[in-house]
Amino acid sequence: MEKRFKKEPFATLQWGSRSQFRLPDAAQLRLVTLVTPNKDEALNAVSPNSLILGDNLQVMASLLPEMEEKFDLLYADPPFLTGKAYAARIGRDEDSRRPSEWRTTNGYRDIWDDPASYLDMLYARLNLMYRLLAPTGSLYLHLDWHASAYARVLLDEIFGPDRLLNEIVWVYHGPSPIRSAFKRKHDTILVYTKSNDYVFNADAVRIPYNPSTVKTFNSSDRAGFGKVPDLKRGKVPEDWWYFPVVARLHSERTGYPTQKPEALLERIILASSNPGDLIGDFFCGSGTTLAVAERLGRRWIGCDATALAIHTVYRRMHLSQTEVHFASWQSEIKIPGTEEEPILEIVKKRNTVEIRLTGLSKPISDPFPDPIDLWEVDWDYDGNIFRSQSQSVRGWREKEIGLKLSHTYSASGKHKVGVRVANLMGEYVIAIKEIFIEESNSH
Ligand SMILES: C[S@@+](CC[C@H](N)C(=O)[O-])C[C@H]1O[C@@H](n2cnc3c(N)ncnc32)[C@H](O)[C@@H]1O
Repeated sequence: MEKRFKKEPFATLQWGSRSQFRLPDAAQLRLVTLVTPNKDEALNAVSPNSLILGDNLQVMASLLPEMEEKFDLLYADPPFLTGKAYAARIGRDEDSRRPSEWRTTNGYRDIWDDPASYLDMLYARLNLMYRLLAPTGSLYLHLDWHASAYARVLLDEIFGPDRLLNEIVWVYHGPSPIRSAFKRKHDTILVYTKSNDYVFNADAVRIPYNPSTVKTFNSSDRAGFGKVPDLKRGKVPEDWWYFPVVARLHSERTGYPTQKPEALLERIILASSNPGDLIGDFFCGSGTTLAVAERLGRRWIGCDATALAIHTVYRRMHLSQTEVHFASWQSEIKIPGTEEEPILEIVKKRNTVEIRLTGLSKPISDPFPDPIDLWEVDWDYDGNIFRSQSQSVRGWREKEIGLKLSHTYSASGKHKVGVRVANLMGEYVIAIKEIFIEESNSH
Protein backbone atom coordinates (compact mmCIF):
# COMPACT_ATOMS: atom_id res chain seq x y z
CA MET A 1 0.00 0.00 0.00
CA GLU A 2 1.11 3.51 -0.72
CA LYS A 3 2.78 5.08 2.27
CA ARG A 4 0.92 8.29 3.15
CA PHE A 5 2.77 11.29 4.42
CA LYS A 6 2.48 12.11 8.06
CA LYS A 7 0.02 14.66 9.38
CA GLU A 8 2.57 17.35 10.20
CA PRO A 9 3.96 19.42 7.32
CA PHE A 10 7.50 18.35 6.44
CA ALA A 11 8.32 21.70 4.80
CA THR A 12 6.99 25.21 5.19
CA LEU A 13 7.09 28.14 2.84
CA GLN A 14 8.85 31.34 3.87
CA TRP A 15 8.50 34.72 2.23
CA GLY A 16 9.48 38.21 3.27
CA SER A 17 6.18 39.46 4.59
CA ARG A 18 4.94 36.17 5.97
CA SER A 19 3.34 36.38 9.37
CA GLN A 20 1.04 34.18 11.36
CA PHE A 21 -2.54 34.06 10.22
CA ARG A 22 -4.69 36.51 12.13
CA LEU A 23 -8.44 36.70 11.81
CA PRO A 24 -9.31 39.88 9.87
CA ASP A 25 -12.11 42.26 10.78
CA ALA A 26 -15.50 41.08 9.64
CA ALA A 27 -17.34 43.06 6.98
CA GLN A 28 -20.75 44.50 7.72
CA LEU A 29 -22.97 42.72 5.24
CA ARG A 30 -26.05 44.53 4.00
CA LEU A 31 -28.89 42.70 2.31
CA VAL A 32 -29.59 44.52 -0.94
CA THR A 33 -31.82 42.36 -3.09
CA LEU A 34 -34.01 39.34 -2.67
CA VAL A 35 -34.89 37.28 -5.66
CA THR A 36 -37.32 35.09 -3.81
CA PRO A 37 -40.72 35.67 -5.32
CA ASN A 38 -42.57 33.15 -3.18
CA LYS A 39 -40.71 32.93 0.07
CA ASP A 40 -39.03 36.23 0.73
CA GLU A 41 -39.53 36.04 4.47
CA ALA A 42 -37.45 32.91 4.83
CA LEU A 43 -34.11 34.66 4.77
CA ASN A 44 -32.30 35.75 7.87
CA ALA A 45 -28.66 36.78 8.35
CA VAL A 46 -26.71 35.12 5.54
CA SER A 47 -28.75 32.19 4.44
CA PRO A 48 -28.21 30.29 1.24
CA ASN A 49 -28.37 30.95 -1.60
CA SER A 50 -26.42 34.17 -1.37
CA LEU A 51 -24.36 36.32 -3.64
CA ILE A 52 -22.03 38.74 -1.86
CA LEU A 53 -20.13 41.71 -3.22
CA GLY A 54 -17.00 42.42 -1.22
CA ASP A 55 -13.43 41.40 -0.47
CA ASN A 56 -13.62 37.74 0.45
CA LEU A 57 -11.24 38.16 3.37
CA GLN A 58 -13.66 40.32 5.34
CA VAL A 59 -16.67 38.52 3.89
CA MET A 60 -15.44 35.08 5.02
CA ALA A 61 -14.59 36.52 8.42
CA SER A 62 -18.13 37.85 8.72
CA LEU A 63 -19.57 34.42 7.89
CA LEU A 64 -17.50 32.58 10.49
CA PRO A 65 -19.73 33.05 13.53
CA GLU A 66 -22.69 31.44 11.75
CA MET A 67 -21.06 29.33 9.09
CA GLU A 68 -17.89 27.86 10.62
CA GLU A 69 -17.56 24.23 9.45
CA LYS A 70 -20.80 24.52 7.45
CA PHE A 71 -19.54 24.31 3.85
CA ASP A 72 -19.51 20.85 2.29
CA LEU A 73 -17.50 21.92 -0.73
CA LEU A 74 -15.39 24.97 -1.53
CA TYR A 75 -14.11 25.71 -5.00
CA ALA A 76 -11.56 28.51 -5.28
CA ASP A 77 -10.34 29.96 -8.57
CA PRO A 78 -8.34 32.98 -7.40
CA PRO A 79 -6.06 35.18 -9.51
CA PHE A 80 -3.15 33.00 -10.68
CA LEU A 81 -0.24 35.45 -10.16
CA THR A 82 -0.02 36.15 -13.89
CA GLY A 83 0.77 39.86 -13.60
CA LYS A 84 -2.06 40.72 -15.99
CA ALA A 85 -5.22 42.79 -15.92
CA TYR A 86 -8.13 41.00 -17.55
CA ALA A 87 -10.75 42.77 -19.63
CA ALA A 88 -14.38 41.69 -19.77
CA ARG A 89 -16.29 41.65 -23.02
CA ILE A 90 -19.50 43.59 -22.74
CA GLY A 91 -20.40 44.10 -26.39
CA ARG A 92 -23.19 42.35 -28.18
CA ASP A 93 -23.30 40.37 -31.33
CA GLU A 94 -19.64 41.02 -32.11
CA ASP A 95 -17.46 38.99 -34.41
CA SER A 96 -15.41 36.78 -32.09
CA ARG A 97 -12.63 36.60 -34.67
CA ARG A 98 -11.95 40.35 -34.47
CA PRO A 99 -10.73 41.12 -30.95
CA SER A 100 -9.77 44.64 -31.98
CA GLU A 101 -13.47 45.41 -32.43
CA TRP A 102 -14.63 43.97 -29.11
CA ARG A 103 -16.14 46.32 -26.62
CA THR A 104 -14.54 45.71 -23.24
CA THR A 105 -14.38 47.06 -19.72
CA ASN A 106 -12.17 46.28 -16.71
CA GLY A 107 -12.65 42.71 -15.55
CA TYR A 108 -10.26 41.96 -12.70
CA ARG A 109 -6.62 42.56 -11.90
CA ASP A 110 -4.01 39.91 -11.22
CA ILE A 111 -1.18 42.37 -10.65
CA TRP A 112 0.87 42.32 -7.43
CA ASP A 113 3.63 44.46 -5.95
CA ASP A 114 5.66 41.26 -5.63
CA PRO A 115 5.00 37.53 -5.28
CA ALA A 116 5.10 37.92 -1.50
CA SER A 117 1.99 40.09 -1.50
CA TYR A 118 0.24 37.43 -3.57
CA LEU A 119 1.20 34.77 -1.02
CA ASP A 120 -0.04 37.01 1.80
CA MET A 121 -3.38 37.26 0.00
CA LEU A 122 -3.67 33.54 -0.65
CA TYR A 123 -2.47 32.30 2.73
CA ALA A 124 -5.01 34.33 4.70
CA ARG A 125 -7.87 33.19 2.48
CA LEU A 126 -6.91 29.52 2.55
CA ASN A 127 -6.87 29.64 6.34
CA LEU A 128 -10.39 31.06 6.39
CA MET A 129 -11.61 28.50 3.88
CA TYR A 130 -10.25 25.75 6.09
CA ARG A 131 -12.32 27.06 8.98
CA LEU A 132 -15.49 27.35 6.91
CA LEU A 133 -15.16 23.81 5.62
CA ALA A 134 -17.23 21.06 7.27
CA PRO A 135 -15.28 18.19 8.88
CA THR A 136 -16.35 16.05 5.91
CA GLY A 137 -15.76 18.83 3.35
CA SER A 138 -13.37 19.24 0.42
CA LEU A 139 -11.54 22.21 -1.03
CA TYR A 140 -10.66 22.43 -4.73
CA LEU A 141 -8.03 25.12 -5.36
CA HIS A 142 -7.64 25.95 -9.04
CA LEU A 143 -4.32 27.50 -10.14
CA ASP A 144 -1.68 27.04 -12.82
CA TRP A 145 2.10 26.86 -13.10
CA HIS A 146 2.55 30.38 -11.71
CA ALA A 147 1.56 29.59 -8.12
CA SER A 148 0.33 26.05 -7.72
CA ALA A 149 3.61 24.67 -6.32
CA TYR A 150 3.62 27.35 -3.61
CA ALA A 151 -0.05 26.79 -2.82
CA ARG A 152 0.58 23.08 -2.42
CA VAL A 153 3.05 23.79 0.39
CA LEU A 154 0.61 26.22 2.03
CA LEU A 155 -2.22 23.71 1.87
CA ASP A 156 -0.02 20.94 3.25
CA GLU A 157 0.65 23.22 6.19
CA ILE A 158 -3.01 24.15 6.74
CA PHE A 159 -4.69 20.80 6.04
CA GLY A 160 -1.79 18.42 6.66
CA PRO A 161 0.14 16.70 3.86
CA ASP A 162 -1.91 13.54 4.31
CA ARG A 163 -5.07 15.41 3.34
CA LEU A 164 -4.11 15.96 -0.30
CA LEU A 165 -6.70 13.87 -2.15
CA ASN A 166 -5.76 14.68 -5.72
CA GLU A 167 -3.73 16.92 -7.90
CA ILE A 168 -5.99 17.27 -10.92
CA VAL A 169 -4.65 18.49 -14.22
CA TRP A 170 -7.14 20.16 -16.49
CA VAL A 171 -5.85 20.15 -20.06
CA TYR A 172 -7.23 22.23 -22.91
CA HIS A 173 -6.35 23.61 -26.32
CA GLY A 174 -6.08 27.18 -27.48
CA PRO A 175 -3.92 29.63 -29.35
CA SER A 176 -0.63 30.70 -27.78
CA PRO A 177 2.10 33.06 -28.96
CA ILE A 178 4.79 30.89 -27.34
CA ARG A 179 7.53 29.67 -29.69
CA SER A 180 10.42 29.20 -27.27
CA ALA A 181 8.80 26.59 -25.00
CA PHE A 182 5.95 24.12 -25.00
CA LYS A 183 2.57 25.83 -24.99
CA ARG A 184 1.26 26.13 -21.47
CA LYS A 185 -2.13 24.48 -21.73
CA HIS A 186 -3.03 22.98 -18.40
CA ASP A 187 -4.22 24.16 -15.02
CA THR A 188 -3.70 22.40 -11.71
CA ILE A 189 -6.48 21.81 -9.22
CA LEU A 190 -5.35 20.81 -5.75
CA VAL A 191 -7.96 18.87 -3.80
CA TYR A 192 -7.73 18.65 -0.03
CA THR A 193 -10.21 17.08 2.35
CA LYS A 194 -10.57 18.17 5.91
CA SER A 195 -10.59 14.64 7.29
CA ASN A 196 -10.48 11.06 6.17
CA ASP A 197 -14.26 10.99 6.22
CA TYR A 198 -15.15 12.85 3.02
CA VAL A 199 -17.70 12.64 0.20
CA PHE A 200 -16.55 11.05 -3.04
CA ASN A 201 -19.35 9.87 -5.34
CA ALA A 202 -17.38 7.77 -7.79
CA ASP A 203 -20.49 6.47 -9.52
CA ALA A 204 -21.79 9.98 -10.21
CA VAL A 205 -18.78 10.86 -12.36
CA ARG A 206 -18.11 7.67 -14.28
CA ILE A 207 -17.26 8.13 -17.94
CA PRO A 208 -17.20 5.66 -20.83
CA TYR A 209 -13.97 3.75 -21.44
CA ASN A 210 -12.29 4.94 -24.57
CA PRO A 211 -13.16 3.00 -27.71
CA SER A 212 -9.78 1.29 -28.00
CA THR A 213 -10.14 -0.19 -24.47
CA VAL A 214 -13.64 -1.40 -25.27
CA LYS A 215 -12.37 -2.98 -28.47
CA THR A 216 -9.47 -4.72 -26.72
CA PHE A 217 -11.63 -6.22 -24.00
CA ASN A 218 -14.35 -7.24 -26.39
CA SER A 219 -11.88 -9.00 -28.63
CA SER A 220 -9.83 -10.96 -26.08
CA ASP A 221 -10.57 -12.69 -22.78
CA ARG A 222 -6.93 -12.41 -21.83
CA ALA A 223 -6.64 -8.61 -22.04
CA GLY A 224 -6.02 -6.67 -18.83
CA PHE A 225 -4.11 -9.40 -16.97
CA GLY A 226 -7.19 -10.67 -15.19
CA LYS A 227 -8.66 -7.21 -14.43
CA VAL A 228 -11.86 -6.95 -16.44
CA PRO A 229 -13.38 -3.49 -16.49
CA ASP A 230 -17.12 -3.05 -16.30
CA LEU A 231 -17.48 -1.63 -19.76
CA LYS A 232 -21.14 -0.77 -19.34
CA ARG A 233 -20.75 1.09 -16.08
CA GLY A 234 -17.79 3.10 -17.32
CA LYS A 235 -14.71 4.18 -15.38
CA VAL A 236 -13.90 6.65 -12.64
CA PRO A 237 -11.98 9.41 -14.45
CA GLU A 238 -8.22 9.69 -14.14
CA ASP A 239 -6.77 12.76 -12.43
CA TRP A 240 -6.21 14.49 -15.78
CA TRP A 241 -9.29 15.94 -17.42
CA TYR A 242 -9.91 17.35 -20.85
CA PHE A 243 -12.65 19.94 -21.21
CA PRO A 244 -12.72 22.66 -23.86
CA VAL A 245 -12.16 26.19 -22.59
CA VAL A 246 -15.18 28.48 -22.48
CA ALA A 247 -13.94 30.56 -25.42
CA ARG A 248 -14.96 27.61 -27.56
CA LEU A 249 -18.29 27.08 -25.85
CA HIS A 250 -20.35 29.81 -27.35
CA SER A 251 -23.53 29.03 -25.46
CA GLU A 252 -21.96 29.31 -21.99
CA ARG A 253 -19.90 32.40 -22.57
CA THR A 254 -20.76 35.41 -20.43
CA GLY A 255 -17.89 37.65 -21.53
CA TYR A 256 -16.36 37.57 -18.04
CA PRO A 257 -12.61 36.85 -18.25
CA THR A 258 -11.16 33.44 -17.34
CA GLN A 259 -14.62 31.92 -17.00
CA LYS A 260 -14.40 28.18 -16.31
CA PRO A 261 -16.45 25.58 -18.18
CA GLU A 262 -19.57 24.23 -16.52
CA ALA A 263 -18.51 20.65 -17.35
CA LEU A 264 -15.44 21.07 -15.11
CA LEU A 265 -17.51 22.29 -12.17
CA GLU A 266 -20.13 19.65 -12.79
CA ARG A 267 -17.59 16.88 -12.29
CA ILE A 268 -16.26 18.51 -9.12
CA ILE A 269 -19.69 19.11 -7.63
CA LEU A 270 -21.05 15.67 -8.51
CA ALA A 271 -17.97 13.93 -7.10
CA SER A 272 -17.57 15.89 -3.88
CA SER A 273 -21.05 16.91 -2.75
CA ASN A 274 -24.58 15.57 -2.41
CA PRO A 275 -27.89 17.23 -3.28
CA GLY A 276 -28.80 19.80 -0.64
CA ASP A 277 -25.15 20.34 0.37
CA LEU A 278 -23.77 23.84 0.78
CA ILE A 279 -21.15 24.94 -1.75
CA GLY A 280 -19.04 28.09 -1.52
CA ASP A 281 -17.05 30.00 -4.12
CA PHE A 282 -15.42 33.13 -2.74
CA PHE A 283 -13.71 34.06 -6.02
CA CYS A 284 -16.86 33.40 -7.99
CA GLY A 285 -16.27 35.59 -11.09
CA SER A 286 -19.08 34.91 -13.53
CA GLY A 287 -20.59 32.35 -11.15
CA THR A 288 -19.90 29.07 -12.93
CA THR A 289 -19.81 27.16 -9.63
CA LEU A 290 -23.02 28.78 -8.47
CA ALA A 291 -24.89 28.14 -11.70
CA VAL A 292 -23.90 24.47 -11.70
CA ALA A 293 -24.61 24.09 -7.98
CA GLU A 294 -28.07 25.54 -8.56
CA ARG A 295 -28.73 23.20 -11.50
CA LEU A 296 -27.60 20.17 -9.47
CA GLY A 297 -29.77 20.99 -6.47
CA ARG A 298 -27.04 22.19 -4.11
CA ARG A 299 -27.25 25.33 -1.97
CA TRP A 300 -24.63 27.98 -2.66
CA ILE A 301 -22.88 31.11 -1.43
CA GLY A 302 -20.76 33.12 -3.85
CA CYS A 303 -18.61 36.19 -3.37
CA ASP A 304 -16.58 38.46 -5.62
CA ALA A 305 -14.86 41.79 -5.13
CA THR A 306 -16.02 43.37 -8.38
CA ALA A 307 -19.45 44.76 -9.18
CA LEU A 308 -19.16 43.48 -12.73
CA ALA A 309 -18.69 39.88 -11.57
CA ILE A 310 -21.67 40.08 -9.24
CA HIS A 311 -23.76 41.64 -11.98
CA THR A 312 -22.72 38.83 -14.34
CA VAL A 313 -23.83 36.20 -11.82
CA TYR A 314 -27.05 38.11 -11.24
CA ARG A 315 -27.80 38.04 -14.96
CA ARG A 316 -26.73 34.42 -15.22
CA MET A 317 -29.19 33.40 -12.52
CA HIS A 318 -32.00 35.37 -14.13
CA LEU A 319 -31.23 33.88 -17.53
CA SER A 320 -31.23 30.31 -16.26
CA GLN A 321 -34.01 27.98 -17.32
CA THR A 322 -35.52 27.67 -13.87
CA GLU A 323 -36.62 30.20 -11.29
CA VAL A 324 -33.69 30.81 -8.95
CA HIS A 325 -34.18 32.10 -5.43
CA PHE A 326 -31.34 33.98 -3.83
CA ALA A 327 -30.31 36.98 -1.79
CA SER A 328 -27.64 39.45 -2.80
CA TRP A 329 -25.53 41.24 -0.22
CA GLN A 330 -22.95 43.99 -0.20
CA SER A 331 -20.13 44.53 2.20
CA GLU A 332 -19.32 48.12 3.00
CA ILE A 333 -17.39 48.50 -0.25
CA LYS A 334 -18.55 51.65 -1.98
CA ILE A 335 -19.84 50.85 -5.42
CA PRO A 336 -19.45 53.68 -7.87
CA GLY A 337 -22.95 54.87 -8.66
CA THR A 338 -24.03 56.16 -12.01
CA GLU A 339 -25.41 59.57 -12.74
CA GLU A 340 -28.05 57.99 -14.88
CA GLU A 341 -31.73 58.15 -14.12
CA PRO A 342 -34.10 55.62 -15.64
CA ILE A 343 -36.81 57.28 -17.72
CA LEU A 344 -40.10 55.53 -17.09
CA GLU A 345 -43.58 55.67 -18.49
CA ILE A 346 -46.31 54.25 -16.31
CA VAL A 347 -49.58 53.06 -17.82
CA LYS A 348 -52.37 52.06 -15.45
CA LYS A 349 -55.47 50.12 -16.48
CA ARG A 350 -57.71 49.36 -13.48
CA ASN A 351 -55.47 47.41 -11.11
CA THR A 352 -52.88 46.45 -13.74
CA VAL A 353 -49.81 48.60 -14.05
CA GLU A 354 -47.38 48.53 -16.95
CA ILE A 355 -43.97 50.15 -16.70
CA ARG A 356 -42.16 51.07 -19.87
CA LEU A 357 -38.47 51.83 -19.65
CA THR A 358 -37.58 54.31 -22.32
CA GLY A 359 -33.92 54.81 -21.49
CA LEU A 360 -31.50 56.49 -19.15
CA SER A 361 -31.43 60.24 -18.76
CA LYS A 362 -27.66 60.58 -19.11
CA PRO A 363 -26.39 57.72 -21.23
CA ILE A 364 -22.81 56.76 -20.52
CA SER A 365 -20.43 58.57 -22.80
CA ASP A 366 -20.19 55.94 -25.40
CA PRO A 367 -21.42 55.23 -28.85
CA PHE A 368 -23.69 52.50 -27.62
CA PRO A 369 -27.31 53.35 -28.27
CA ASP A 370 -28.70 51.16 -25.50
CA PRO A 371 -26.58 50.65 -22.41
CA ILE A 372 -29.19 48.71 -20.41
CA ASP A 373 -28.37 45.14 -19.48
CA LEU A 374 -31.01 44.27 -16.95
CA TRP A 375 -33.92 45.93 -15.21
CA GLU A 376 -36.32 44.70 -12.58
CA VAL A 377 -39.27 45.87 -10.53
CA ASP A 378 -40.27 45.58 -6.90
CA TRP A 379 -43.98 46.42 -7.05
CA ASP A 380 -44.09 47.16 -3.31
CA TYR A 381 -40.65 48.51 -2.54
CA ASP A 382 -39.99 49.15 1.14
CA GLY A 383 -37.16 51.57 0.35
CA ASN A 384 -34.61 49.24 1.87
CA ILE A 385 -34.50 45.68 0.58
CA PHE A 386 -35.32 45.33 -3.09
CA ARG A 387 -37.53 42.30 -3.77
CA SER A 388 -37.12 41.56 -7.42
CA GLN A 389 -40.52 40.45 -8.65
CA SER A 390 -40.36 41.11 -12.40
CA GLN A 391 -37.23 41.14 -14.48
CA SER A 392 -36.12 41.87 -18.00
CA VAL A 393 -32.63 40.67 -18.80
CA ARG A 394 -30.63 40.92 -21.99
CA GLY A 395 -29.33 37.54 -23.19
CA TRP A 396 -25.55 37.21 -23.53
CA ARG A 397 -25.43 37.88 -27.22
CA GLU A 398 -28.73 39.63 -27.76
CA LYS A 399 -28.96 43.21 -28.85
CA GLU A 400 -32.45 43.85 -27.58
CA ILE A 401 -33.95 43.81 -24.12
CA GLY A 402 -37.69 43.81 -23.32
CA LEU A 403 -38.76 47.30 -22.26
CA LYS A 404 -42.16 46.59 -20.67
CA LEU A 405 -43.01 44.91 -17.38
CA SER A 406 -46.46 44.69 -15.84
CA HIS A 407 -48.17 43.65 -12.65
CA THR A 408 -51.72 43.22 -11.38
CA TYR A 409 -52.28 44.42 -7.83
CA SER A 410 -54.66 42.61 -5.54
CA ALA A 411 -54.62 45.35 -2.88
CA SER A 412 -55.91 48.87 -3.43
CA GLY A 413 -54.23 51.99 -2.07
CA LYS A 414 -50.82 53.55 -2.42
CA HIS A 415 -47.93 51.40 -3.67
CA LYS A 416 -44.30 52.37 -3.84
CA VAL A 417 -42.70 50.87 -6.93
CA GLY A 418 -38.91 50.40 -7.17
CA VAL A 419 -37.32 50.09 -10.59
CA ARG A 420 -33.72 48.92 -10.57
CA VAL A 421 -31.72 49.32 -13.75
CA ALA A 422 -28.21 48.04 -14.49
CA ASN A 423 -25.92 49.17 -17.25
CA LEU A 424 -23.24 47.20 -19.07
CA MET A 425 -20.66 47.82 -16.36
CA GLY A 426 -22.84 46.32 -13.64
CA GLU A 427 -23.72 49.70 -12.11
CA TYR A 428 -27.23 49.87 -10.66
CA VAL A 429 -29.62 52.77 -10.11
CA ILE A 430 -33.04 52.67 -8.50
CA ALA A 431 -35.97 54.91 -9.41
CA ILE A 432 -38.97 55.05 -7.08
CA LYS A 433 -42.51 55.86 -8.20
CA GLU A 434 -45.78 55.98 -6.32
CA ILE A 435 -48.88 54.39 -7.77
CA PHE A 436 -52.42 54.59 -6.47
CA ILE A 437 -54.81 51.72 -7.10
CA GLU A 438 -58.44 52.73 -6.63
CA GLU A 439 -60.63 50.58 -4.43
CA SER A 440 -63.38 50.00 -6.96
CA ASN A 441 -60.94 48.87 -9.60
CA SER A 442 -59.02 46.45 -7.47
CA HIS A 443 -61.43 43.52 -7.47
C1 LIG B 1 -10.14 33.53 -12.03
S1 LIG B 1 -11.47 34.59 -11.71
C2 LIG B 1 -12.80 33.47 -11.31
C3 LIG B 1 -13.53 32.96 -12.52
C4 LIG B 1 -14.70 32.07 -12.19
N1 LIG B 1 -14.27 30.79 -11.68
C5 LIG B 1 -15.61 31.87 -13.39
O1 LIG B 1 -15.84 30.72 -13.81
O2 LIG B 1 -16.08 32.88 -13.92
C6 LIG B 1 -11.02 35.26 -10.15
C7 LIG B 1 -12.04 36.16 -9.52
O3 LIG B 1 -11.62 36.46 -8.19
C8 LIG B 1 -12.05 37.77 -7.88
N2 LIG B 1 -11.26 38.26 -6.74
C9 LIG B 1 -9.95 38.56 -6.72
N3 LIG B 1 -9.58 38.96 -5.49
C10 LIG B 1 -10.69 38.88 -4.72
C11 LIG B 1 -10.96 39.15 -3.34
N4 LIG B 1 -10.00 39.58 -2.52
N5 LIG B 1 -12.22 38.98 -2.89
C12 LIG B 1 -13.20 38.54 -3.71
N6 LIG B 1 -13.00 38.26 -5.02
C13 LIG B 1 -11.76 38.43 -5.51
C14 LIG B 1 -11.87 38.55 -9.16
O4 LIG B 1 -12.67 39.72 -9.20
C15 LIG B 1 -12.25 37.51 -10.21
O5 LIG B 1 -13.60 37.64 -10.58
